[in-house]
Amino acid sequence: MDKMRIRGGIALRGTVEVSGSKNAALPILISTLLTAEACRFERVPDLEDIQTTLKLLGQMGATITPALDQSQVTIRCDAISSREAPYDLVRKMRASVVVLGPLLARFGKAKVSLPGGCAIGARPINFHLAGLERLGAKIELEQGYVVAEAKRLIGANIVFEFPSVGATENVLMAAVLARGESVLENCAREPEIIDLARALKAMGAEIEGEGTEVIRVQGKDVLHGCDYRIMGDRIEAGTYLAAGLATGGTVKVKGLSPTYMDAILAKFEDAGSRVIREADAVQVIAGARPQPTDIKTLPYPGFPTDMQAQFMTAMAVAEGASVITETIFENRFMHVPELIRLGADITVRGNSALIRGRPKLLGAPLMATDLRASASLVLGGLCAEGETIVNRIYHLDRGYECMEKKLASLGAEIERIS
Ligand code: EPZ
Repeated sequence: MDKMRIRGGIALRGTVEVSGSKNAALPILISTLLTAEACRFERVPDLEDIQTTLKLLGQMGATITPALDQSQVTIRCDAISSREAPYDLVRKMRASVVVLGPLLARFGKAKVSLPGGCAIGARPINFHLAGLERLGAKIELEQGYVVAEAKRLIGANIVFEFPSVGATENVLMAAVLARGESVLENCAREPEIIDLARALKAMGAEIEGEGTEVIRVQGKDVLHGCDYRIMGDRIEAGTYLAAGLATGGTVKVKGLSPTYMDAILAKFEDAGSRVIREADAVQVIAGARPQPTDIKTLPYPGFPTDMQAQFMTAMAVAEGASVITETIFENRFMHVPELIRLGADITVRGNSALIRGRPKLLGAPLMATDLRASASLVLGGLCAEGETIVNRIYHLDRGYECMEKKLASLGAEIERIS
């Protein structure tokens, strides 16, 4: 199992290019199930979760042609022979459950394993299923699988109980091939939903209101192929900027619009950094130590839960105390005991963590638990004095493309050990 060895205490400086967004690419690649024509994508990040998605589509019968340049992929779903997402793949990557909507919409049938619990929370899929039922699907649970059927989905009014990202994506992908109009209310407004809607529109779908609480869809009989470039990854960008903040450096990320990072960038400003926004780049010039700042995670446009752990590392070396409150997932503080091993002073009470900033952290061996927690531990290693080894970094490979190379290009002393 690979590990990351980090020699910390170096202020990061420089510019990195972000990869395509993981959380936009996953549903977009899956949306190819909606058409028999070829769909070509650019800027597909080379990540473990993307490989799992391509494997899932391949098992269903999709033809997949990765271009020589790995960031391009062409997918053609003209000979889908299986409408099933098996347990071993869904267990590995919960995002696979969004095959339900497109499979049901195009083939009238889908069998998808229930994902089960996850390191960061229970993460049920009841909102996905309720939305699909409103579109006319008959859903049964059989031996750990969701078995869904519908002759033809029929447009409906759906009010989500909570603006769930996955449920909005699943139901949106079903609605684009349903008969008539669907109005989805209390939708997730995340930029990745906007990117999915844009990709679906490139395939001929009629959608209005993506990025707002209400999305209107006029269902089509068929969709066609497309050529689409995935948006830049705002969480990857935020992670490198947080590495700059935690180490007292100056980091610029390019290849994405800072507009989608407003809540994150506001927190960098609260933490005493200067933030310079450009059309497709953003730079954070940090002070020697961050200023303390309180954070509460919320659905977009609020501060994202996917940046909570990385900010906690920066607050661990801030000049004062901060409170971070996690409202999206019930178990997303697993990085805390590991950061404490670096000397951080953090107390968790319920869904809030009190972080009393310390002038320095000291390197130690650490264990990664999930994707963003792992990123926060790498950041911890980058600001801690001496050597830090982060074990089980396969979690990082699910969501960060060439993380050690990008950090090394900012001056970090970091290497992967096999
Ligand atoms: C997406 O997960 C992201 N994953 C997550 O990214 C991200 O943390 C999350 O949105 C929130 O922004 C992908 O896009 C692939 P939700 P998702 O449905 O869709 C509850 C990362 O590190 N809920 O918005 O699963 C749920 O348990 C990751 O890249 C229900 O109760 O998130 C959670 O508490 C991890 N029933 C809350 O809603 C449901 O049917 C938000 O979940 C659905 C969700």
